[in-house]
Amino acid sequence: MRVTLAGVELASPVIAASGTFGYGVEFEEILSLDKIGAFVTKGLSREPMAGNPAPRIIETPAGMMNAIGLQNMGVQAFIAEKLPKLRTMKGAVVIANVFGYTIEDCVEVIHALNDAPGVAMYELNASCPNTSHGGMVFGTDPDSLYNLVLHSKKAAKRPLMVKLSPNVTDIGLMARVSSDGGADAISLVNTFLSLSIDIETHRPRIANVTGGLSGPAIRPIAVRMVHEVRRAVRIPIAGMGGIVRAEDAVEFMLAGATAVQVGTASYADPRAVENIATNLKKWCTSHNIPRVSELTGAAIL
Ligand SMILES: Cc1cc2nc3c(=O)[nH]c(=O)nc-3n(C[C@H](O)[C@H](O)[C@H](O)COP(=O)(O)O)c2cc1C
Repeated sequence: MRVTLAGVELASPVIAASGTFGYGVEFEEILSLDKIGAFVTKGLSREPMAGNPAPRIIETPAGMMNAIGLQNMGVQAFIAEKLPKLRTMKGAVVIANVFGYTIEDCVEVIHALNDAPGVAMYELNASCPNTSHGGMVFGTDPDSLYNLVLHSKKAAKRPLMVKLSPNVTDIGLMARVSSDGGADAISLVNTFLSLSIDIETHRPRIANVTGGLSGPAIRPIAVRMVHEVRRAVRIPIAGMGGIVRAEDAVEFMLAGATAVQVGTASYADPRAVENIATNLKKWCTSHNIPRVSELTGAAIL
């Protein structure tokens, strides 16, 4: 089940996605971190962020919408309060998700994390649809994205994975500028910009008005985008969007992903990431696949 993502060896290709797995420590009693490949922290910013007002999560057909607005404790509190505990948890591979409103913000978060032991990789969030600036603004403009990746890579002492927004016409182009800027891997997709209206009150069902759609409803679009990124760049891909079963993970790998991430599924079943990792191994055995990495890009398209 071993795969190598941006030079980091993982015991399984199945990773818990950012914003759906807290800071990892919350899952200590729920699942075994050594049974999954890694987990990605909630987005970490320079200063603590309170996030958006409630309601900020709703259920939709085959998915959910969220506008959390990157509520987080800030990078310094994460290093002081969560990392020491994570370092005692068996098999924990920590990918730190980095967020900033400006390039300087992101660089500062990376500098802070560089000196903290116990982080394997960075995931640069260039794709959050739920903040008024930063995030998706970087991820939908090729020049801004290139500069963000270039400066972040220069600052990073660890491998840098860049998380792309699906809210673009040409995702291959966004992957290419990330790769040109020095990204070691690409992760995709973040959530799709969406809107839901309460027909009785005529008001949006999420206080932020718009939110990000995730879950099984987005899966075929995400698989298509992984395929396009695979054709556009040579660096490895972590694919996600609506994975709830091991078979979904296989589909993303066939489209070109080296690893996969699982987000929304953890809201329905907090053990989902571990179950998918376990079932993926069984699936490979039952299909006579000796190494899961053989699936990557094996679709006949
Ligand atoms: C409640 C919630 C919070 C999220 N927070 C973050 C975040 O802080 N940073 C980030 O890069 N992605 C965040 N995401 C996006 C997920 O990591 C993932 O890219 C997306 O939900 C698609 O995968 P899924 O369909 O398996 O959930 C969040 C998603 C949800 C549902």
